[in-house]
Amino acid sequence: MPSGGVSTAELADLLAALPFGHRLWVRGMGRCLYPLLRSGDAVRLLRCGPERLARGDVALVRHGPRLAAQVVLSTEPWVTESLLGGTDVAGGELVGRIIALKRGRWVVRLPRPTRPALFLMQRTLSGVWTKPASRAVFRHLRDLFSGWTKPLRRHFVGPLEIRLVRPEDLDALLAFATERLVVSGTFLRRQLRDRWGLPPDRRVGAAAGAFDAQGHLLGFAWADDYHQEGLALDGFWVRSLVVSPRVRRMGVATALVRCLVEEMERQGADRLHADIDEDNTASLRTFSGLGFRPAPDALTTATNQQWDAAGGSKRLVVLVRPLPG
Ligand SMILES: CC(C)(COP(=O)(O)OP(=O)(O)OC[C@H]1O[C@@H](n2cnc3c(N)ncnc32)[C@H](O)[C@@H]1OP(=O)(O)O)[C@@H](O)C(=O)NCCC(=O)NCCS
Repeated sequence: MPSGGVSTAELADLLAALPFGHRLWVRGMGRCLYPLLRSGDAVRLLRCGPERLARGDVALVRHGPRLAAQVVLSTEPWVTESLLGGTDVAGGELVGRIIALKRGRWVVRLPRPTRPALFLMQRTLSGVWTKPASRAVFRHLRDLFSGWTKPLRRHFVGPLEIRLVRPEDLDALLAFATERLVVSGTFLRRQLRDRWGLPPDRRVGAAAGAFDAQGHLLGFAWADDYHQEGLALDGFWVRSLVVSPRVRRMGVATALVRCLVEEMERQGADRLHADIDEDNTASLRTFSGLGFRPAPDALTTATNQQWDAAGGSKRLVVLVRPLPG
């Protein structure tokens, strides 16, 4: 993924303008090849046309402003899917073939002989993953595993500092956003400059981060009003609460939200809201544990109506926490 606020659409234009035969590394292509590739890892792109691809290749495909790395299932008709199958939009414009993957220091090449194996892997994984029961078993195992590995993860990550995000944290914030947030880097940069990063007496809204000893961000959340995004919802709302998987179940989300509660109280807000997908048990428990309680029905209805109109699909539970001041 590009740094310095280049959007995915700009990156897609840039890649599409490259001559055929050109090769380059591109980072942060989303979760389409998960679990083989995680968001924030890099892929090596060979810019080429569809005649160079066959079933089982990995294609970099452009869907409007989005870029996605997908497995080619058929070339006539042209069908690609993410590794776990499912929800991706059909069609798309081919940018090129992915010839290698890179995670940290590890590079895995994808030469042509890997095509049948990758095709079979996609068929098997997507067959299993599209069944809700398989996903439930996976989540259960992951939670179990997460408990066992907690002491080890705590040891390797070291102590975390939970505090308000400051203007000098911008690079760490953009790196985290590239990997984990759906909010654009441009939006975050502007909010930090014009609202969250101002001196205490002029600050409006706030962002909280969990920083490791190297200054990397491993968890993030912000509180601000919705009017800026065109939603007719009053008050301050907690948004984009995300914790890196390696530090989950260690109280990071709890500490981030607590930090925002304290700051919004200091700013004189009389309450703080959160809107959460109704099936997000982890998040619902986190907020309940911090004294957030169900909002009045009228607010819940209004919030769901606003999000439905903005294209949201899941029902949201709205919680509110009074700030005594
Ligand atoms: C939801 C999320 C932020 C929680 O982060 P976290 O740092 O692991 O949360 P905490 O350690 O502070 O957990 C607080 C409580 O929430 C509950 N909880 C957290 N993760 C849970 C899980 N996977 N399953 C069930 N309960 C969970 C527990 O009650 C936990 O307390 P406990 O560990 O003492 O039992 C994290 O799982 C995440 O980033 N998820 C993906 C993004 C997301 O869904 N964000 C929320 C958008 S509203």
